[in-house]
Amino acid sequence: MSNRMKNILIIGACGQIGSELTPVLRERYGNENVVAADIKHPESEKLLESGPFESLDIMDKPSIDKVIEKYNIDTIYNMAAILSAKGEKNPRACWDVNIDGVLNVLQCAIDFDLARIIMPSSIAVFGPDTPRENTPNDTILRPTTMYGVTKVCGERLCDYYVRRFGVDVRGLRYPGIISAETLPGGGTTDYAVEIFYKAVEFGRYSCFLREDTRLPMMYMPDCIEATLQLAEADFDNLIHHNDFNVSAFSFTPGELVECIKRYMPDFECTFEPDYRQEIADSWPSSIDDTPAREEWGWKPKWNLDSMTKDMLEKLSKRHKEGRLYK
Ligand code: NAD
Ligand code: SER
Repeated sequence: MSNRMKNILIIGACGQIGSELTPVLRERYGNENVVAADIKHPESEKLLESGPFESLDIMDKPSIDKVIEKYNIDTIYNMAAILSAKGEKNPRACWDVNIDGVLNVLQCAIDFDLARIIMPSSIAVFGPDTPRENTPNDTILRPTTMYGVTKVCGERLCDYYVRRFGVDVRGLRYPGIISAETLPGGGTTDYAVEIFYKAVEFGRYSCFLREDTRLPMMYMPDCIEATLQLAEADFDNLIHHNDFNVSAFSFTPGELVECIKRYMPDFECTFEPDYRQEIADSWPSSIDDTPAREEWGWKPKWNLDSMTKDMLEKLSKRHKEGRLYK
């Protein structure tokens, strides 16, 4: 199958993950063979100039069909979604994009006999009844957020399409992703990115989660690596398909502050929890990712300290050049 992964469409390419996945896929498969698409116009000139871009609403199936036909697409990475915090503000929009959008992509897989679909899920599939520490892959999925409900439903839909129609669709449950290129799009783990921007800009930050809220996190290079590794894994080796736990490291806001202080001793942080605290309290504090390790060889490279050092270096350099937010 993988030898048919020649023409790739990334939906949601302007988001936190899509904006870094797109250049890596272009490097790997050729600029002209990787089409970036999003409902919004890219802020990054590089994304626009390095390969094709199409304006596309994932809820509009005929427009996805047109792009597939135009570029002879055989593989779709679906990065379009409404994340947890935004989803609680607008649950209906969250359902529409995360469920109707996913169904449209799955239907395209059948209509165009696509080779492969990559459909991310999240640690938000878990809820307060799930074992919180070292959360197993196969466990209780009773989320209390609309985002979590859509992600459980999305996983089940995708697995149904594997079994019922033989579609090759696969996905992993990302933890909170930390990155220096594109700001996150409205999740509960966003504090772990914002804190670096504010540390570099003002030397202080007000965190919207409690100091002791431990959540699973991952640095973007590991996120991209995990995505590519699963995307390129041999289908015959997969027992799971759309619900792989992937883990890197876990920390609390208090521990992150201490780590930042190693490099910026004067950094100050206050804690003023808001509605996102309840979301965070319903999620695991750490993740067991044995199936990902056994079925496709997952192993993270980054830890809290190496991530913190790299984030501060990258953002400080941009800040000095007067383009922190680019
Ligand atoms: P993001 O919010 O940063 O980006 C989502 C992109 O989708 C945006 O560019 C947005 O414009 C686009 N989009 C929204 N509605 C659309 C529509 N109707 N049609 C086309 N495009 C649309 O999200 P992200 O963080 O890059 O997440 C990518 C995937 O990874 C999602 O499935 C998300 O649930 C999952 N995930 C992300 C994290 C994280 O920490 N970033 C963690 C767990 C799971
Ligand atoms: N980072 C995501 C969020 O906070 C987890 O899926 O919504």
